Amino acid sequence: MRAPLIIANWKMNPATRREAVSLASRVRTGIQKIRSAAVVIAPPALFLEALHSADKKLKLCAQDIFWEAAGPYTGAVSWRHLNDFGVRYVIIGHSERRIYFGETDEMVHKKLSAVLLHGFTAVLCVGERERQENEIAPIVGEQLLRAVRDIPPRFLKKLVVAYEPVWAISTNPGAKPDTSENAFRARVFIKKVLTKMFGNTAAGNVRIIYGGSVKSGNIASFIRDGKMEGALVGRASLDAEEFIRIVAIAGRAVH
Ligand code: PGA
Repeated sequence: MRAPLIIANWKMNPATRREAVSLASRVRTGIQKIRSAAVVIAPPALFLEALHSADKKLKLCAQDIFWEAAGPYTGAVSWRHLNDFGVRYVIIGHSERRIYFGETDEMVHKKLSAVLLHGFTAVLCVGERERQENEIAPIVGEQLLRAVRDIPPRFLKKLVVAYEPVWAISTNPGAKPDTSENAFRARVFIKKVLTKMFGNTAAGNVRIIYGGSVKSGNIASFIRDGKMEGALVGRASLDAEEFIRIVAIAGRAVH
């Protein structure tokens, strides 16, 4: 199994550049000795430059981008801008983008294509809004198929699929983490969909990670029992000590 990939999704936090630089630096200090897990930080776009200047070794991720390189798109950030700040990862289709910004599967597809074709690693988020007993909701497969259609299989090496059941995201009312059994089922399901579409080899390259109320208390079970190859961490990534614990435990869980 590959070393787990732990992505800190800071969302629209923290409030200031100074806090962002301080949080990133505490995290970097804490994870320096951890070799068995890879860490990526996704701060608000405006803080990418500050974080990159403060620490060139930090692996940075954008939380979103627009699919065009440049042009009359007021308010949009292009994937091309990211090159200047050492950003190699981009989150695509997070449920909050889909819910609050009206992102459709078609938009997700365009963004995913742009990102992969230009050499970034894409973190594609898929997940159902409501739990359906222990079945993986068909919407997970639909979101995935619509996002990856027409993507040349060789680009799958740079694809990470984040299974994030929306109901499990910590800020949603009544949220609780998914079970590792269900995460495992989701992993098998996602692999199956990708294999059917792209064949075994290409699908085998795709990393599948879990997101939704990940904490130091549950990360080991998602990695060990759920066979997830990492996690997308929201709220707990804003607490440096807790996030460092998550990374350390994830690294140990694969051995
Ligand atoms: P959470 O968020 O860890 O706060 O549940 C995860 C996410 O939305 O990426």
